[in-house]
Amino acid sequence: MKVTVSRKAHFNAAHRLYRKDWSNAQNEALFGKCSNPHYHGHNYELIVHVTGDIDPETGYVMDMKILKDLIKNEVEDKMDHKNLNEEVAEFFDLIPTAENMVVVIYNSLKPHLNPEHTLEVTLYETPRNYVSYSE
Ligand code: NI
Repeated sequence: MKVTVSRKAHFNAAHRLYRKDWSNAQNEALFGKCSNPHYHGHNYELIVHVTGDIDPETGYVMDMKILKDLIKNEVEDKMDHKNLNEEVAEFFDLIPTAENMVVVIYNSLKPHLNPEHTLEVTLYETPRNYVSYSE
């Protein structure tokens, strides 16, 4: 019997979507406002889903305090109020789209979870645009 537990988190971050090998005009044509050379911010909403069996001893799939602290240590402390392109190493050579961000977040959480648990990460860049990743 598999149950999914989910934890929401929030962070603010700045980014610029652009290719260094393209002109500003090319970047603006594809990435629009998100290629603004002066950067801009988003209020990101993150939802982390962990699926597994209920531990008969505790009645938990996993301790939500541990999940909360893990998200804080691995995601919020790294990305909150940061310029993703310039301050977060994973994005020095990777365009910080929501798609790439959700994979980076997944990869930073996964090694800390019970390997028998399934992880899915959903990231909202705006209230209407969101991406999900699970292996
Ligand atoms: Ni943007």
